[in-house]
Amino acid sequence: MAVFPSYQSHAKAFVLGTLLALAGLGGYFWLGPSSSASESTVTVYKSPTCNCCSEWVTHMREQGFSVEVESRVNVQPVKKQVGVPSPLAACHTAVVDGYVVEGHVPAQDVKRLLRETPEVRGLSVPGMPVGSPGMERGGRREPYEVLAFTAAGDTSVFAQYGRR
Ligand code: CU
Ligand code: CU
Repeated sequence: MAVFPSYQSHAKAFVLGTLLALAGLGGYFWLGPSSSASESTVTVYKSPTCNCCSEWVTHMREQGFSVEVESRVNVQPVKKQVGVPSPLAACHTAVVDGYVVEGHVPAQDVKRLLRETPEVRGLSVPGMPVGSPGMERGGRREPYEVLAFTAAGDTSVFAQYGRR
């Protein structure tokens, strides 16, 4: 990098910035308000060796989310820091728009969470039920629930999948 940036590099940066701003604006009007998924970045804390976690990341990206992956050899401190109640813990922990998303929560429930903005800390699919997004194993399906939880640790059923 030059100590005194030339006028040219400023001009380039300005043009690029303007183009990006216009592209962003265009994208907003083109996609409309229903594009909330693509405007919210999901930050996922996961073990670098967790395969089902990577498959959940793929699921979220396929459903239109932009996902940033933060590798952690130990994700427990993150769970504690963001307030995941231990009975609700799963493998990875994600944060999006101030909400916590724990485990294999389907993208459609995350979209509903961001749309409805309920007063909860976040959502969780405790454990790792087979058949949840990222846990597809030979087409087997276990029934499971998506739980909403508050900072105080109260839980409620947010969504249900499969028969109980
Ligand atoms: Cu998992
Ligand atoms: Cu995971």
